Amino acid sequence: MFIKWDEQYAVHIRLMDDQHKRLFDMIEQFYLALHHRETQRAMSELLSGLTEYSLYHFHGEERMMSLNNYPLYAAHKSAHEKFIITIKEFHERFDSGKLLIPIEVAQFIKQWLSNHILMTDKQLGKFLRQIESKED
Ligand code: FEO
Repeated sequence: MFIKWDEQYAVHIRLMDDQHKRLFDMIEQFYLALHHRETQRAMSELLSGLTEYSLYHFHGEERMMSLNNYPLYAAHKSAHEKFIITIKEFHERFDSGKLLIPIEVAQFIKQWLSNHILMTDKQLGKFLRQIESKED
């Protein structure tokens, strides 16, 4: 087991938690594929799939932030954008045949996602829950 979602990552916003679980699962599947020596195919699938699903997930969060006038919107969005730029750079290196060490890619994504959820997304989750509780 390389990465597994558990309660410490819960931001307690159902949609966000469900999508984070999916992102964790994508990284875990990639890691498992490395052990089966399917490195090239797995890397291509991970980088494409992760870009697509991360964009979908980030846009969802950004929409929630925007709709609720979240004060940390700009910094949170910027963190998303930097991540996407890095993943696209990995993809470009992969496509052009440059050296890309799969486990380092997996480690980077794991670390980034863990930190981002534990710090940045949890702040957002707390803010959204406060708004929800005021609306009740
Ligand atoms: Fe769940 Fe801000 O990404």
